Amino acid sequence: MKPVFLVLGGTQNSLPVIRKAQELGLRVLVIDPDKNAIAARRANYFEVEDPNCLECVEKIARKYNVVGSMTRNELYVATVCFLNEVLNLPKQGEDIGDSVRDKYVMKQAFKRDGITMPDPFYKIENKGELETVRAKLKKDLLDSPFIVKPSDQRGSIGITKIEKLRGFDKAVAKALKRANNQRVIVEKFIDGEQLGAQGFSIDGELVKCFISRKTSSPTFVSLGHSFPIDLSPEVIWDIEEECAKALRSLGIINGPSTIDINLDKQGKPHIIEIGARAGGTVLPETILAHTGIDLIKASVALASGRKVEFPMPKNVPVAAHKLCFPKSGKIKNIRNYRKLIQHYKPADFKLNINRNMNVIANREYGYVIITGNTGIAEKKCSEFILELRNLIELY
Ligand SMILES: Nc1ncnc2c1ncn2[C@@H]1O[C@H](COP(=O)(O)OP(=O)(O)OP(=O)(O)O)[C@@H](O)[C@H]1O
Ligand SMILES: [Mg+2]
Repeated sequence: MKPVFLVLGGTQNSLPVIRKAQELGLRVLVIDPDKNAIAARRANYFEVEDPNCLECVEKIARKYNVVGSMTRNELYVATVCFLNEVLNLPKQGEDIGDSVRDKYVMKQAFKRDGITMPDPFYKIENKGELETVRAKLKKDLLDSPFIVKPSDQRGSIGITKIEKLRGFDKAVAKALKRANNQRVIVEKFIDGEQLGAQGFSIDGELVKCFISRKTSSPTFVSLGHSFPIDLSPEVIWDIEEECAKALRSLGIINGPSTIDINLDKQGKPHIIEIGARAGGTVLPETILAHTGIDLIKASVALASGRKVEFPMPKNVPVAAHKLCFPKSGKIKNIRNYRKLIQHYKPADFKLNINRNMNVIANREYGYVIITGNTGIAEKKCSEFILELRNLIELY
C-alpha cells in the first residue's frame, strides 16, 4: 500500500501539493472544514474537520497512519508543526508552533537574536496596552510612520500605515477585528523597497534563497513578484545572511519559508516576518519558470521523509502577477481572452473562476507568468491582468 501524506486545507493552492504528492507515489489525505472544498475531489481521502483543532487532526492522522504533513495555508502552519512533532514525523523544527503563528512572538525572538527588523514594536491586547502604546507613539510618530496589524493574519488583512496619532484608534480597531488571537502589533514602518524571499532549508542550512522584488497594492496586498533581483552581490549576500539568521532564530531548520523583507534607503535588509510554508502569490510557480526548481515537490519530498534533489538551476528572468479583485462580488460573465493570450504569450497562465462564483476581495483567482527582462515583464504582467479584469464582469 502507498503511504498516506496529509495536506491541511483543501483550497485551490493545495491542488499542486496533492498532484506532486501523488506523483511522488503517495496517497493524499486532505482535511478541510468545508465539505465542498475543491481538493475533496482530487485527494485520495478527505475528512471534514477544523484543521486548527489539534486533537481532532491528530486523531485523524493516527487513523490513516500518515507519513508526513504540510500546508500552504498560514492559518494551519502551527497545526502542522504540532502534528509533525507529536507523531515524530519529518518536521520543520522543534517547538516552533508559537513563533510561526504569532508575529509578536516571532518579533521577540528576532529582537533577542539581533535580527535587523522594524523596531520599536509593541503589542496591544487590552485597554491598558492601548493607552501605553498611544503615549509612546506620540513621540515615535515624530520620527517615522508606523504599521498596525493583526499578529496572526496573512494576506495583508487588517493592515494600516499610520502617520499621525489621529488614525491610531481606527487602525487598531480594524486590526483587532481580524486578529484571531485578539492581539495587535504596532511597529515602525521601514521606508524602502519591498522584497520577498523563498527559502528552503535542509538540516538547518538555508540551501535555497530566491529573492524577488515584490509588487504590492497601496494597502500592502502582495500582487506579484519578479526574478532575478537586480541588486549588488554584497546586498544579496546581506539579505541571504539576514534570512538565514532569522530562520535560525525561529528554529526553522527544514522545509520552505516565505520571508518578507524591506530594504531600507541605506540598502539594509529588515526582516518583516517569516511564514513557515511555501508562499502564495504564485511564488512556487514563478520560481519554477525562473529556475526549473519545483519548491512544492521539494517540500512534499522533505515532509514525507524522501530525499530532495534539485536540478541545476536555470536563470530565466520572469515576472508574475496574481488575478485578484479589489472588491468582493459574484462573477457575471467571463469574455473570451484568447487574443490576450496570443498577444502576451505568457509562460504560464491560470484562471480559477467560473460564472456565478462568489469572489472575495484581494484573494488569488489565477495568475500570469511572463518571461523577459524584469521591468518589461513586470509591466506586461500588470497590463495583462488589467486587460483580463476588463473581460470579467462582476454583479
Ligand atoms: N513594518 C513594516 N514596514 C514596512 N512595510 C511593512 C511593515 N510591515 C508590513 N509591511 C508591508 O506589508 C506587507 C504585509 O505585511 P505582513 O507580511 O506583516 O502581513 P501578512 O498579513 O503576513 O501579509 P502576507 O501574507 O502578504 O505576507 C509586508 O510584506 C510589507 O511589504
Ligand atoms: Mg507577510
